[in-house]
Amino acid sequence: MPGIENGLVIRHNQISDDMYEIEFISPKIAPLCQPGQFIHVKPGVYNQPLLRRPLSLCDVDKKLGSITLLYKRVGEGTDMLTRVRTKDYLDVMGPLGQGFSLPGSGKNVVLVGGGVGIAPLVYLARVLKEQHCQVKVFHGMENRRQLAAFEKFRAIGIDFLPATMDGSAGFKGLVTDLLWKKINPTEIDYVYTCGPEPMMAAVADYCREYGLPGEVSLEEYMACGVGACLGCARKLKPEDEYYVKVCHDGPVFNMQDVCLYKK
Ligand SMILES: Cc1cc2nc3c(=O)[nH]c(=O)nc-3n(C[C@H](O)[C@H](O)[C@H](O)COP(=O)(O)OP(=O)(O)OC[C@H]3O[C@@H](n4cnc5c(N)ncnc54)[C@H](O)[C@@H]3O)c2cc1C
Ligand code: FES
Repeated sequence: MPGIENGLVIRHNQISDDMYEIEFISPKIAPLCQPGQFIHVKPGVYNQPLLRRPLSLCDVDKKLGSITLLYKRVGEGTDMLTRVRTKDYLDVMGPLGQGFSLPGSGKNVVLVGGGVGIAPLVYLARVLKEQHCQVKVFHGMENRRQLAAFEKFRAIGIDFLPATMDGSAGFKGLVTDLLWKKINPTEIDYVYTCGPEPMMAAVADYCREYGLPGEVSLEEYMACGVGACLGCARKLKPEDEYYVKVCHDGPVFNMQDVCLYKK
């Protein structure tokens, strides 16, 4: 059952121009968290902005009872969140949604993240590693200032392959081009992706080409976050009769069930 609590902020760092990392103690929520789920955060003290903002679980320390979020400042809510200080309390609801399924011990797994979409893949990588999977992470970004997650993957002991559009770190170009170049598809058991939808569409094309199973984490505007308002309703495929609620039925879905848009 998801809960609401005031998490004690123990760390809040600006890690690049517009990227931040916040860790808070959340003794009720942290033990329930699974990779791919999200937290609904109330960024302000008063009712402005009115709606909570969804942020993925970037990492969870169940021993300490802490949750880490990695976020990009894009508008009113995330800007307000940047002003939260260490020792403040953060009003959080969670864990929400359906997370990633885990492929089982010892599998070869590829994770592809774009921009801040790398956030949920950190916690996923940690859990996969605990399950003795061989994990490779591909991360696409504009430039090396967005290499926010590199140190985290290195600390977990994961192969990390960056791609930057300006060539300032790793491969120069699209992360999906790097994927086609670097990986022998016969050595992959499962693929997970999160990021801009055109990037996930290209990852899905790759998986379809080689018959690989995988999962995507979708992003939609959200209001309630718990399946009550239809704010995040979406048809997974145009021909589907029914809408899903991304907050409640997702945000993670089987790649083959979703039609991803290239623009
Ligand atoms: C399940 C889920 C998990 C997410 N995890 C993360 C995460 O780990 N880190 C992170 O930085 N962001 C994440 N996001 C996106 C994040 O929720 C939005 O960036 C945030 O709500 C924006 O709030 P704001 O008030 O700052 O911006 P607003 O003022 O609401 O909007 C500013 C700009 O951002 C765009 N925007 C706002 N919300 C979304 C959205 N959901 N999808 C696409 N564009 C949007 C708006 O169109 C506008 O251009 C996630 C979203 C979902 C649905
Ligand atoms: S945000 Fe209300 S149903 Fe999903």
